[in-house]
Amino acid sequence: MRKKITELKASEERIERVEQALPKREEEANRPAQENAIMAEIGRIISSTLNIEEVYESFAKEAQKLIPFDRISINLINLEDGTVIVAYVSGLDIPARRLGDIYLLKDSATERIRGNPLSLLIQPETREELESKFPKFMPHFQAGLRSMMAIPLISRDTVIGILHLQSAKTKAYTDKDLRLAERIASQIAGAIANAQLFAQRKRAEEALQASEEKYRLLVQNSNDAIFIAQDGVIKFPNLKTEELLGYSAAELAETPFVNHIHPDDRSMVAERHKKRLGGQKLPSTYSFRVINRVDEELWVEINAVSILWEARPATLNFLRDITEKKKLEAQFLQAQKMEAVGTLAGGIAHDFNNLLMGIQGHTSLMMLDMVPTHRHYKMLKCVEEQVKSGADLTWQLLSFARGGKNEFKPTDLNAIIKKSSTMFGRAKKEISILQSLQQDLWPVEVDRGQIEQVLLNLYVNAWQAMPSGGSLCLETKNVVLDENYVRPFNAKPGNYVKTSVTDTGVGMDEKTRKRIFEPFFTTKEMGRGTGLGLATVYGIITGHGGFINVYSQKGHGATFTIYLPASEKKVEKEKKTSAQLLKGTETILLVDDEEVVVNVSRMLLEAMGYKVFMARSGQEALGVYKARKEEINLVIMDMIMPGMGGENAIDILKR
Ligand SMILES: Nc1ncnc2c1ncn2[C@@H]1O[C@H](COP(=O)(O)OP(=O)(O)OP(=O)(O)O)[C@@H](O)[C@H]1O
Ligand SMILES: [Mg+2]
Repeated sequence: MRKKITELKASEERIERVEQALPKREEEANRPAQENAIMAEIGRIISSTLNIEEVYESFAKEAQKLIPFDRISINLINLEDGTVIVAYVSGLDIPARRLGDIYLLKDSATERIRGNPLSLLIQPETREELESKFPKFMPHFQAGLRSMMAIPLISRDTVIGILHLQSAKTKAYTDKDLRLAERIASQIAGAIANAQLFAQRKRAEEALQASEEKYRLLVQNSNDAIFIAQDGVIKFPNLKTEELLGYSAAELAETPFVNHIHPDDRSMVAERHKKRLGGQKLPSTYSFRVINRVDEELWVEINAVSILWEARPATLNFLRDITEKKKLEAQFLQAQKMEAVGTLAGGIAHDFNNLLMGIQGHTSLMMLDMVPTHRHYKMLKCVEEQVKSGADLTWQLLSFARGGKNEFKPTDLNAIIKKSSTMFGRAKKEISILQSLQQDLWPVEVDRGQIEQVLLNLYVNAWQAMPSGGSLCLETKNVVLDENYVRPFNAKPGNYVKTSVTDTGVGMDEKTRKRIFEPFFTTKEMGRGTGLGLATVYGIITGHGGFINVYSQKGHGATFTIYLPASEKKVEKEKKTSAQLLKGTETILLVDDEEVVVNVSRMLLEAMGYKVFMARSGQEALGVYKARKEEINLVIMDMIMPGMGGENAIDILKR
């Protein structure tokens, strides 16, 4: 019975033991399931967000459920600069291993594990044991940690960091825990690698965006039109391209680009484009004309290089608007041409004028001795008239060449315009004259006779351009011209008086317009115009330090604009002069190196009653003057002579 009881007790105890053991076994049996659930949860956390900081936090919480610890840290290696950063830490504090702390990889425990990527389980019996085997972990020991696991974080066969799980208990962990830790480490390693990759890509994207932004700024702010030409259209135009041509990018992509080129230049540009695409070497810059949306003709200079665009041949083009430059160049060339022609015309006219003087003088002398009934009288009269026409011609040529002989006086241009236009209006009733004259117009220093002639030439041209009548508009204005404006005309910047003469006549084409100031250029039939009108105008205006401009289109009238430098001086009133022939009895010393001039002048003066002494040079004049000082009342001297010039001689005579 006793035995039975004992047995029973024993069996009861056993049962008790079994019963006691039961929940533990149950727990152990449930453990893999629980582990798996936590593993799954970690996996879920990791894939739920790319924000790695959040991942660390939840990861630590779940890991705690599997492997209790008093400190966890995730240290990441940066191979670029050979450092390690404490990317996450929680639990007991270790100096120099706080969140965000960076330490050198070299000679660290991390480096040791990286070199031999195996998990470490460190659970020293004594401080000395740790110190001798794992001295790097002494700070951990000092912080109170006794059991330490260090698991390499491996992604694509590379150690990217270390996971530390550490406990203050001695011998807290088993090999099983280490294996478990390895499993979660491999999960977090994958998450970290992904996050790093993502960050890297984001950085690259941002860098790309920043560089794209820079290029965009470069291209869009360019003062040149920049675009790609491919498939016969303009692609990828910058703002300036759209602005220059007046079309949007979408419109440009749909219109063949030859449509934007001036018809005369089309084949040339198309040919070059084709050759360039074909790989032929061509000069990279050349100029041509484009037509913009509002039908304006613009000169552009293109700089093209062949490139690949979307993997196919194309050209990259830089287009610069050089319309203004072209205009200035043309004006400059025109001015130069006129100067050359002027020198030539002036030289001829000067010599020719001397010949005419000889003919005129001798003719006049013969006629003085002749009664009008003489049989040669009429013929001589004819000769005189022809000489007069010749003299007119040379006078015009001379005034073209040097603006003639000037007598500058401060003048109110409005007054001259009013006077000349009234005169002209009376003669040509079929033309209506409109005036828009500026009040308080600045004075100009001009030779009034010459300016009248300029205006009359312009009126006559306008009248001839309006065979069936029309209107003539005269305008004056004070203007201030800057350096850029006057440069092509070789004039000085400053205050100018602008006079425009506009007609509603037939106008002229570009080709005519370019030549109108040339002497003897005329489009009028033989005998109607000599082509000297505008040449004279040109000469006179440049002789006044001014310049002239013309704007005209065929069929749309013409505007001639004259700019004369303004003067500070007060306007002088005109004096009347008598037109009577004056005779005298005084003695004159006549000095000129030209034989013909001196002879004829002497004869004419003598015929008018004067007594004349002659000299052929400045020197001779001084000699004659010395001998006849008392008799001589007047000296007439040519200014330009070989040897001693007129000016010099006069100076000495005065003394
Ligand atoms: N207002 C105008 N409208 C249209 N064409 C003009 C005008 N003024 C000048 N022209 C053109 O310029 C050319 C030269 O003019 P310019 O005055 O020099 O000579 P011209 O008038 O032909 O002859 P001239 O003036 O010597 O009698 C003219 O033949 C004409 O073709
Ligand atoms: Mg004319």
